[in-house]
Amino acid sequence: MTQPIIIAKDLERTYPGKVPTRALRGISFEVERGSFVAVMGRSGSGKSTLLHQLSLIDTPTGGEVHLDGVEVTHLSDRKKTEFRLAYLGYVFQDYALIVEFTALENVFLPAMALGRDPVAYRKRASELLTLVGLGARLGHYPTELSGGEQQRVAIARALINEPKIIFADEPTANLDTASAVTVLDLFKKLQKELGQTIMMVTHEPDDKRYVDRVIWLEDGLIGEKEKS
Ligand SMILES: Nc1ncnc2c1ncn2[C@@H]1O[C@H](COP(=O)(O)OP(=O)(O)O)[C@@H](O)[C@H]1O
Ligand SMILES: [Mg+2]
Repeated sequence: MTQPIIIAKDLERTYPGKVPTRALRGISFEVERGSFVAVMGRSGSGKSTLLHQLSLIDTPTGGEVHLDGVEVTHLSDRKKTEFRLAYLGYVFQDYALIVEFTALENVFLPAMALGRDPVAYRKRASELLTLVGLGARLGHYPTELSGGEQQRVAIARALINEPKIIFADEPTANLDTASAVTVLDLFKKLQKELGQTIMMVTHEPDDKRYVDRVIWLEDGLIGEKEKS
């Protein structure tokens, strides 16, 4: 059996405050390499917090995260940043594109941050934009693209450094139905054709049909639906 690409052990995240919020209360699970997994649960159940811990955007207050065999929670901040850039892609609900940059520039920026060859990565960025169906939009600025197109640029950007895992937090929440379907079909294609591991937060029950598995969260714990 191959090693799971994600292992979470007793993962906890408590936000400090007058009344501390226990957003994750000790959760454990594994994710198989090449799988497409949804994280579902009510608003406030800890879905975004979970993705932030797994993708090294935040540091858990307890437990461990292993990504492709590396225990990442104890890496230095610098190592975390390097690991995130080199091995992880992240897709945000609001796309988070840089408005002063073209689609092409947005996509190859994370490669520049790793000091990679600009010429090779411009070419790669253009191939990825073609892969997501935007080969004719390379020089467009974010404001000249629809929401669905912007999200596909963000997905191409997440792919530029050939990540081991793509994390997406409600990537279709701001999109109309047709654009949402395009984005979900694209994730499915990346999984099937590139063997891409994808972990996506969604609150859309219909999205279940795209994924291999759902991790249900309830108040910072793995939900009962998961266990049954
Ligand atoms: N930065 C933060 N500081 C304090 N509390 C937070 C912070 N982020 C989230 N929370 C709280 O943690 C809980 C889980 O939030 P979140 O992970 O955003 O849930 P979801 O994504 O499932 O809606 C909520 O009670 C939320 O209010
Ligand atoms: Mg959220």
